Amino acid sequence: MSTAWTSRYAQRAKGVKSSAIRELLKITQQPEVISFAGGLPASEVFPAARFQEACQRVLQTQTHLALQYGATEGYEPLREMIARHINRYGIQARPENVLITSGSQQALDLIGKLLINSGDKVLVEAPTYLGALQAFSVYGAEYIQVPSDNDGLQTEMLESPLRSGPKFMYVLPNFQNPGGTTLSEGRRHELVLLADRFGIPIIEDDPYGQLRYDGEHLTPLVVLDRENLRWDRGYSIGNVIYLSTFSKTLAPGLRLGWIVAPPEVISKLTQLKQGADLHTSTFGQMVAYEVARDGFLDEHVKLIRRVYRERRDAMLEALKAEFPSEVKWAHPQGGLFLWVTLPEGMDAQQLFAAAIQEHVAFVPGDSFYAPNGATEEGRRHMRLNFSASDPEKIREGIRRLGLAIRKQLDALRPLGPFPQYSP
Ligand SMILES: Cc1ncc(COP(=O)(O)O)c(C=O)c1O
Repeated sequence: MSTAWTSRYAQRAKGVKSSAIRELLKITQQPEVISFAGGLPASEVFPAARFQEACQRVLQTQTHLALQYGATEGYEPLREMIARHINRYGIQARPENVLITSGSQQALDLIGKLLINSGDKVLVEAPTYLGALQAFSVYGAEYIQVPSDNDGLQTEMLESPLRSGPKFMYVLPNFQNPGGTTLSEGRRHELVLLADRFGIPIIEDDPYGQLRYDGEHLTPLVVLDRENLRWDRGYSIGNVIYLSTFSKTLAPGLRLGWIVAPPEVISKLTQLKQGADLHTSTFGQMVAYEVARDGFLDEHVKLIRRVYRERRDAMLEALKAEFPSEVKWAHPQGGLFLWVTLPEGMDAQQLFAAAIQEHVAFVPGDSFYAPNGATEEGRRHMRLNFSASDPEKIREGIRRLGLAIRKQLDALRPLGPFPQYSP
């Protein structure tokens, strides 16, 4: 229905829809439902006492600063801390390479604002993070989707898509959302070289990099870019803009993320951020700094890794015990998600309706493909989150989901369920 307001909406607002996941979370919040749908960190591991102390300290010692407007670039000690922290992973950044954002989600929006003209193509993995598609689509992005497998984005398929001239590539190298996959070392090198050869920059989104449960840390693309291309322009960073966040290591309610980019890019993004929100909450940044300082963040990440590793393993074991053999899944080395492939002919949307009857929820895979994309492929997948439920709930939830899958499989068989004989 067109009202006085709706007829005035700008073109870019007309195509915007609420994220399928946000809508779905409303259903899954019913207390009887075990939800593997959201991408929520475990709230029981939030360092609540440390936050309380930090709030008090900030308010007692720096009230005027904490409650005042601040610099758009962010709270200087926090920018310094982030620069120091990422230097440990080889990312040679100085504070002037760091812009604090209101979550990585705002970083994605600002990048869309900075780089995308209506009709520009953005190269994404298939599947990819739904929130990035939402952020870029507002600016009129069109998508080139390149499939990924267990080793991440299939770089051997990139040449022809890169020739078609995307504005940039958006890539999640570590424990991808939703696929749980990690881009292999070999493909990282290849990707960075291809980006250089075709002159197409990369947005490297890395919210989960620290949440690794097995294997060795792999080199970020932003570091390989410098090494491979022998960037020697001081601390300027080349073809890759790097994003990360405190949402998965401290608390998502903080709404604190950051962008690492060359100073000239940071300066333009800062101007764009001024129009969006002037700056990210000063109080929140100061509290996060107080919480994270003196090595606390590193210790806390160790705790999160222990808890999530146990939950991932509980889910993997439950899947093996409860799911029919026709169902396949990947083994993520970190992050929050497990990506499941359903048997031929099964539809994840229909399964979702059946799963809700059993009081268990997940996200159907088609949410994670661009609108022009592989809906058929998406319909055969589901994303399961393992961080937000304890092992007991995970076992019970997967038992219920296994039941729903078996019922759907029976319905798919031409003769219906196998007859049950009783002696
Ligand atoms: C890949 C990816 N990028 C960005 C975000 C947004 O994170 P933030 O809470 O920092 O806005 C998420 C959140 O789940 C994510 O999975």
